[in-house]
Amino acid sequence: MGELDVPNDAQIRSEVGPTRRPRGAQVQVTVDGAAQAAWAGEPLVDVINRAQIELAQVCYHPQLGPIQTCDTCAVEIDGVVGRACGTPVQAGMVVRTQTNAARTAQRDAYDRIVANHDLYCTVCDNNNGNCTVHNTLGVLGIDHQTRPFQPKGFEKDMSNPFYRYDPDQCILCGRCVEACQNVQVNETLTINWEAEQPRVLWDGGKPIGESSCVSCGHCVTVCPCNALQEKSMLGEAGLFTGIPLPVWNSAIDVVKGVEASAGLKPIMNVSEIESAARDRYIKKTKTVCTYCGVGCSFDVWTDERHILKVEPGLGHANGISTCVKGKFGWDYVNSADRLTSPLIRDGDRFREATWDEALALVARRFTEIRAAKGPDALAFVASSKASNEEAFLVQKFARQVIGTNNVDNCSRYCQSPASKGLSLTVGIGGDSGTIKDIENASLVITVGSNTAESHPVLATRVKRAQKLGHTRVIVFDIREHELARRADEFHRPNPGTDFVWLAAVSKFILDNGLEDKDFLRERVNGLDEFRASIEQYTLERAERETGLSAETLEALARRIASEDRVCILWAMGVTQQCGGTDTSATISNLLLITGNYGRLGTGAYPLRGHNNVQGASDMGAQPDAVSGYQKIDDPFAVQRHEREWGVTLRPERGLDNTQMIDAAIRGDLRALWITGEEMSLTDANANHLQEGFEALEFLVVQDLYFTNTARFADVVLPAAASLEKEGTFTNTERRIQRLYEVMPPLKGTRPDWEIYTAVAERMGHRWGYTHPSEIMAEIARLTPHFAGVSYDRLEGYDTLCWPVAEDGTDQPLLYTERFNFPDGKARLYAGEYRPRQQAPNDDFDLHLNSGRMLEHFHEGNMTFRVAGIAAKAPDAFVEISPELAAERNIQSGQWARLVSEHGAVRLQVLVTGRVSGNQVFVPMNARKAEDAVNRLTGSQGDATTNTPAYKDTRVRLDVLRDVGPNPLPATNPRWGHPTPQQGVEVERKWARPDYVFPGGLLPMHGDSLNARADALGADD
Ligand code: SF4
Ligand code: SF4
Ligand code: SF4
Ligand code: FES
Repeated sequence: MGELDVPNDAQIRSEVGPTRRPRGAQVQVTVDGAAQAAWAGEPLVDVINRAQIELAQVCYHPQLGPIQTCDTCAVEIDGVVGRACGTPVQAGMVVRTQTNAARTAQRDAYDRIVANHDLYCTVCDNNNGNCTVHNTLGVLGIDHQTRPFQPKGFEKDMSNPFYRYDPDQCILCGRCVEACQNVQVNETLTINWEAEQPRVLWDGGKPIGESSCVSCGHCVTVCPCNALQEKSMLGEAGLFTGIPLPVWNSAIDVVKGVEASAGLKPIMNVSEIESAARDRYIKKTKTVCTYCGVGCSFDVWTDERHILKVEPGLGHANGISTCVKGKFGWDYVNSADRLTSPLIRDGDRFREATWDEALALVARRFTEIRAAKGPDALAFVASSKASNEEAFLVQKFARQVIGTNNVDNCSRYCQSPASKGLSLTVGIGGDSGTIKDIENASLVITVGSNTAESHPVLATRVKRAQKLGHTRVIVFDIREHELARRADEFHRPNPGTDFVWLAAVSKFILDNGLEDKDFLRERVNGLDEFRASIEQYTLERAERETGLSAETLEALARRIASEDRVCILWAMGVTQQCGGTDTSATISNLLLITGNYGRLGTGAYPLRGHNNVQGASDMGAQPDAVSGYQKIDDPFAVQRHEREWGVTLRPERGLDNTQMIDAAIRGDLRALWITGEEMSLTDANANHLQEGFEALEFLVVQDLYFTNTARFADVVLPAAASLEKEGTFTNTERRIQRLYEVMPPLKGTRPDWEIYTAVAERMGHRWGYTHPSEIMAEIARLTPHFAGVSYDRLEGYDTLCWPVAEDGTDQPLLYTERFNFPDGKARLYAGEYRPRQQAPNDDFDLHLNSGRMLEHFHEGNMTFRVAGIAAKAPDAFVEISPELAAERNIQSGQWARLVSEHGAVRLQVLVTGRVSGNQVFVPMNARKAEDAVNRLTGSQGDATTNTPAYKDTRVRLDVLRDVGPNPLPATNPRWGHPTPQQGVEVERKWARPDYVFPGGLLPMHGDSLNARADALGADD
């Protein structure tokens, strides 16, 4: 018999979706007379499925694991009938799937299911060929229900903007509960198994819209029937489903009447014809989420431009998971606000123009300005939301067509310090492993990261690993966000002091001989210099500086040193500080001295904010490097680009985003082309930025909408959305994924790559691309890290994590053998503590923190255009602590003015325990440009990368007289009361007095196989 042993990396990495329990040794079992290879401990149903033996299995979902609620998978195991999903494989098992006893149990189990479900497939929106309840009927060949359906007496719940629950369709399989409790780990859903008529409950019995449900959609995605259904499907998906309600009800009566007389088969045949007919108009297209850097991928179902639903399942980063934005946040694509024609400034107004006129004007003005002021009078900002191919073309345009290195992307606002810190220490500025590594860590530490809101699906894996007892979670943050509340330990260091506690913990580890000596000796350089650089960071000094006690830090040091697998995740709480690079490098140092690189479950994870912020930098939209981080003065890079582009790269570093604005104000920069970035609100010191825009001679803005940035433009070019084009995105794992065209570009818009190509042609460079795959081929030729990347290797859901060798071998986990330096060894970095510059003072007595909300993305240009999201989170606010509220006599809903040295905004107050003392928090999203938080932030930045120190801002709060309703509506999930439990808790169903195992057999729970062997005989 095989034993369960430690996780096998290859098995774990090959799994899509959340990691399941580790499997053991290879064994053999016999199924229906044939020998089958299996893993000890894996669910028997997996073996049966691999052998392609047809077996009903309504509640089993491979990404959820066995939940054992439906009993339809009954088989004979060593002569005893039991659940195939709930039985772990043991060597030598003899399994028979079609004995009389097994068949009787399967059919009886299914009969109980349809007694809970009104079968009206022909007029059902879920009749799409993938309804498990419908398909199981075919598998079992059932013609008549013996237990008739009876309405259950509950109303449909329509109170969530995105999906509805119909109790009369609910088969009580509990997949939704398992997904909510143990995958999303929002813990909203339960089933009241003890009730006379059980049903799914939200927060123990609230309407969905008033519960803690965050609308992630996990439950809807895994529901095996139409009980949970996307509202965008209702009345839209089927040939007959859009008919008026009375007619629809009559249609159901007809269906039921036919069933009573003719049995189920004719009805099923008709519904299958109807289902097949849907293939003619329902298009299913794989894409990649356009919001955050987790990189969820899924199929989008459309009927013309109507989005019927988003169906995740096969994505490597996410499996069945999404957050509200990826699952439901797509209204913005069809928003009436989309630009559909180029606009040209005409005095104080804009007029519509043809593409020809607009492109000609752009080319002419660029040519004139370059001729008059030189190439460095122009600059280019690539979009972190656009594709890799498009980011590549922006820098190609800058370097080849114009001849300048003035090109950057929005990683300057968030990720540059993390990339730099990692480049200095381990040689590659990206996550060192994948989400699988994070969920397989024994200890996850997050620093300055609101992971559950900013990287929701990645956070689900951390929450799940912790809930299932595999992983300890320690959170460092100044704000008590969701992950902080769930953490095993939550520490609130003083703002901007992370460097100090990290250095002190490292020093303690080294001083006490707790470091990984072998790892350091064999794989790391610079120990002596590093040790000297942190000499002053005693635990006592750290306590004074950070506010964390010496005992806490000592215990932390001992724990990190003793854990087997440590991952550290960080984000903008670290990077948007004056010492963002140094602190990032110090995180990496700590991982190096404890040997936490290059193994499953270890490594450094600076979580990427935008969907393609990783890719925008990878593609060379940076002032000092071309694609693949090749320096612009690297002789090999220069040679390759000379050959390919026919120009020599200029060796001088160009301007970054921050420097571009200063150069514009000085008069050195005259023209700027911004693609897909709401720079006027997302850069720090927004008023200063606007001054820069106003000083420009010529500004081109390319976007989906007439954004606040577009107000300053001379030409506005209407771009296509991600759903309207092909390309690739690279997520936080360095995972390159293809997106396919879900719908054609809205009339009048064009994909970014076509726009750059057209302007380049007008300026004498005929690129000749007809498809983004040709651009990727060029990227592969020019970029060693992308040498083996091609569209063929990225077909469908296939992915590659760069670096990718020419033969297509990729590297999901970096540094397994060597670090990315010539001698293969990592380098400890002797960093410097850079205390915050803007500590509160008498005039500005509060510390301002800012960041994302789960519901919104960045400034909110896309998500405010999603009606359901806007209803749940209608506007920005300022979170203040109960202490501050008491001191100033303020209540939630009160209007206040936040004032800094740089500007002022007017917001409503939200009193919450998430913030403490004199710290306040404002979300990055704002409905009105004049209230954007970056009117308050200043121009100081990270000493190495110029990333603005957004998190180093002081403000004062002037209370205004007006009081309105609470800025977070009652329907926001933050008001809900989750009901945590250990998954679906099927044992409570089995304990019901009326429960017997189907077929009249005794209830049978997993391990009681042998005990029941005598009681039940095979009757084959
Ligand atoms: S949070 Fe809401 S949408 Fe997500 S799984 Fe739970 S109930 Fe479903
Ligand atoms: S609502 Fe939940 S319990 Fe009901 S059928 Fe769907 S997944 Fe199963
Ligand atoms: S926003 Fe991020 S977590 Fe949410 S679906 Fe998109 S990629 Fe996934
Ligand atoms: S599939 Fe095994 S009990 Fe439901």
